[in-house]
Amino acid sequence: MTATINDRLLGQPFDRLDGVLKATGAAPYPSDVSIPGQAHAVLLQSPIGAGRIRAIDSTAAEAAPGVVAVITHLNSPALGEAPMTGLGGPPRNPFTDDRVLHYGQNVAVVVAERREQAMAAALLVDVDYEVSAPILDMDDPRAAVENNAWGLETHDGDVEAALAGAQVTYDGTFRIAPETNNPIGLFTTVAEWDGDRLTIHDSTQWPMMVRASLAAVFGVPEAGVRVLVPYLGGGFGNGLRTWPHTILTALAARMLGRPVKLTLTRPQMFTSLGHRAQSRQRLRLGVGGDGRMLAMDHDATASLAAEETNFSAIVIGSPEAYATPNVATHDRQVRLNIPNPSFMRAPGHAEANFAIESALDELSYQLGIDPVELRLINHADVHPRSGLPWSSNALRECLTVGAEQFGWNDRNPEPQSMRDGNKLIGYGMAGVTFGWYAAPCTATITMDSAGSVIVRAAATDIGTGTYTVAAQLTADLLGLSMDDVTVKIGDSDLPPAPQSGGSGLAVALAAAVQSGAAKLIEALIDAVGDSSPLRGKTVDEVVAENGGLRLRDDADAGETFREILGRHGLDHLTAEGTSDLAAAAKNAKMATAPAFAARFVEITIDEDLGLLRVKRLLSVVDGGRLLNAKTARSQIIGGAVMGIGMAMFEDTIYDQDTGRIANATFGDYLVPVNADVPDLDVVFVGEPDRFSPTGVKGLGEVGVVGVAAAIANAVYHATGRRMRSLPITIDQLM
Ligand code: MOS
Repeated sequence: MTATINDRLLGQPFDRLDGVLKATGAAPYPSDVSIPGQAHAVLLQSPIGAGRIRAIDSTAAEAAPGVVAVITHLNSPALGEAPMTGLGGPPRNPFTDDRVLHYGQNVAVVVAERREQAMAAALLVDVDYEVSAPILDMDDPRAAVENNAWGLETHDGDVEAALAGAQVTYDGTFRIAPETNNPIGLFTTVAEWDGDRLTIHDSTQWPMMVRASLAAVFGVPEAGVRVLVPYLGGGFGNGLRTWPHTILTALAARMLGRPVKLTLTRPQMFTSLGHRAQSRQRLRLGVGGDGRMLAMDHDATASLAAEETNFSAIVIGSPEAYATPNVATHDRQVRLNIPNPSFMRAPGHAEANFAIESALDELSYQLGIDPVELRLINHADVHPRSGLPWSSNALRECLTVGAEQFGWNDRNPEPQSMRDGNKLIGYGMAGVTFGWYAAPCTATITMDSAGSVIVRAAATDIGTGTYTVAAQLTADLLGLSMDDVTVKIGDSDLPPAPQSGGSGLAVALAAAVQSGAAKLIEALIDAVGDSSPLRGKTVDEVVAENGGLRLRDDADAGETFREILGRHGLDHLTAEGTSDLAAAAKNAKMATAPAFAARFVEITIDEDLGLLRVKRLLSVVDGGRLLNAKTARSQIIGGAVMGIGMAMFEDTIYDQDTGRIANATFGDYLVPVNADVPDLDVVFVGEPDRFSPTGVKGLGEVGVVGVAAAIANAVYHATGRRMRSLPITIDQLM
């Protein structure tokens, strides 16, 4: 039983429903929330990279105008431990003891009547530190190296034997700088307690996880914690954990018995919310003379904070990237005195792809095989590990359509062969694979007597278009107009839904909405009278259109929703839809396919100045069935811009003496601006996925993957110099 997608509204490039609200400032982001009587909290963060707090004198701060409290590890109660999220352990609780493990660790919370008063008073808190030398360099011999606990290593076949027997071998080491996710919206928490009940407005991608964490940390019933985030000014992964500042805001509100609001400053966004781990990868490949990859050994080391368990799995997707019979992968971590690394768009995949796609480019020159052809030769026609057919896979088409549309064959493949005056021209490309993820999801659909519906789920719209696509899908399935549908999300009290993360929400939520629509149609059919032509029919025998149901094989035999509900005096009818795609995947007899893509890029390099410019960037993406062509394209464009940042700009710089983040402002931390970004072309290929009930695949993260490799490969084509470290900066090009 399934509700039919009519393709009437689905896929159409509707403007996002929240666009006007956001553009006019009417959308309430967490930072816009004010509660009468609220006090304002400001964080005081450690200026040292490692050591111990000997003493804190807050007398002067407490006496400052407007100050309500100064909370530190000395006067705060013990906190409970948040549960694992399934992706790693929770961040270390704030105020655990007197030790400082990284620059920017929270040392005190100053609460005052006004934010300015709290900021001024924070300067008066006198902290006496015993300073130790922080460990900040991944190569520091004092740094502890650990194998991650996920058990995600791969040992397929006999890699060493295959490498030894290969005609051509490759061995390269790649480095990627730590990058900090920087959504425009400053993360904010507003907390209000009523006894053991907590209402919290929080910048998060995962309201239900924040609810579970806070309930555990404060030892209160989960049902009494409500997390609200109707709008979020970007996430990119740093809203996937319950961070210490959120706990501290709730703590301050509990201790003071009044609402408390805290907004991070931009520099605090660098110390408080995770970042893409710094990484080093060694990649060894063995190929035959025909270009077939016989062996891959992919070994990655990533930075990890002291006493954290949220490991970065860099090479998690490597075994699935190409058809390689012998594969070994290994992830390890080096513990440093840094703020905790965490998720940042396509974590792992974006990094590993840089190594694999750079290596294939190098091999293409050694083998004399065109780079596109080399990817096609090694294409995984079935899932490389399970041998199962993919539920969808248009990677070949991504590569061939991309080559055609980009004019790939018009180039002279010789390095340093193309120029325009004093500018060297380079073409580069990369293949892109990603990981599949979907978590259980619920959505309810409530229809009122006028035939309008409200869709509810504890999901979030982090700027990706969840409101819009949920409305489109619901209207399409129920034969309604967009105006007939209201979407309520961003509230943990709504039906359980997963995070906006892992590119998994749209797939899981769409399946839940589809299931809910089918159940609603079933309930409507159950409600019709004996004389109705719909009486006794199944969902598959009817079609929802024009605000009602009719028989599939008789366009004139039907009733409107208004008639059905009105006749029975029902003011509303609710149906609950669910999806658990990961569970269903176990019996699917096919490999659940992620999104695939190919990137083609043209760059120029000023020979005298070493200035690298991206001239054209084409992304060809297999995202399955698109929910909305416009928001889908926007996702890929946004990811591509982030990829340009990864390739050319982003680098979180730690002062090696103090651990201070030396560039924690938008003036110093470089991200691409309009002048750095050319027209970005996006082409979608592929078909609705066969496993995903709606045919939809997640494409929130795939947009970033492959951009860095394509640019680095283009730099090689332009200059004959191989870039194995990101970002690619002028000094590497002079
Ligand atoms: Mo993404 S790093 O799962 O927000």
